[in-house]
Amino acid sequence: MITDSLWTAFGPSPLTQEDFEYFAGKIKKLSGISMKQAKLDLIKTRLTQRLREHSYKNFSDYRNYLETLPDTHEEWQEFINILTTNKTDFFREPDHFHFLIQYILPKWLKEDKTTFHIWSAAASTGEEAYTLAMILKHYLPPGRDFKIIGTDIDTKVLKTAENAVYSLSKLHEIPDLYRDECLDIGEREAKGWFRIKAHLKEKVTFVPHNLIEASFVDDKGAPKIFDLILCRNVLIYFDKKTTELIAHKLYEHTIDQGFLFIGHSESFQGCTHSWLNHNSSIYQKAKRA
Ligand SMILES: C[S@@+](CC[C@H](N)C(=O)[O-])C[C@H]1O[C@@H](n2cnc3c(N)ncnc32)[C@H](O)[C@@H]1O
Repeated sequence: MITDSLWTAFGPSPLTQEDFEYFAGKIKKLSGISMKQAKLDLIKTRLTQRLREHSYKNFSDYRNYLETLPDTHEEWQEFINILTTNKTDFFREPDHFHFLIQYILPKWLKEDKTTFHIWSAAASTGEEAYTLAMILKHYLPPGRDFKIIGTDIDTKVLKTAENAVYSLSKLHEIPDLYRDECLDIGEREAKGWFRIKAHLKEKVTFVPHNLIEASFVDDKGAPKIFDLILCRNVLIYFDKKTTELIAHKLYEHTIDQGFLFIGHSESFQGCTHSWLNHNSSIYQKAKRA
């Protein structure tokens, strides 16, 4: 252990190849995130923060500490939180939301169903889930309702999502059409912030969930079934085998003829799966014969 001032003066020693492989192997096993050699600097920068918090001088000391911990130790959650990449925006990749408004909603409105269930499956700080809530609140007629679940492996971002308070610097991401209906703009001590209105917030629940672990189940242990799943900008971190596993899992969680959106730069190419594709980032579950 060293003092904080010494730590700041010298910083950590270099990350050895052996330690890099240990950390990369661990994050792959815990989350599915694949960190190849090119990510060495990213691992180094992110873990430096954790070393500082523990006052470890070397990556090897932190590794030795991790090696003593049981799988259930809370440090593993910190390790995951620090290595995930959480960039997100309101109304990100808007083509998906146009497809929802122009194609999916008219289809849903022909059905008798009163409540539609949507899953934001790598929700990060919540912008994607609240974008869906704003759109559904605006476009669904009286008598039709919706519930949104946002999940993420990173427990820290989920706290921000639950708070539903965002910096005014993000306001420009939200079209004017939705602002009065969906947002409270902060005044006095809340100046510089806005929050999602309570009537929308209550439609969205956030819970931790790891996409590579067991199915996402209800109280009776049955897989939760959704009309629409968004699993966007997370598959890029996985290898083909993990992506294929997730494609199968998400299929299990989708209602017949339900939809899946993946990120614009992601693909199921090279994976075996049962989805029908509308285009490279919009998929639909087949109608049961
Ligand atoms: C770049 S953000 C994408 C957020 C949002 N879906 C979007 O498109 O803007 C990726 C998120 O995936 C989460 N993630 C990474 N691995 C995961 C896993 N195995 N299970 C669940 N979430 C995971 C990260 O914590 C991060 O918040």
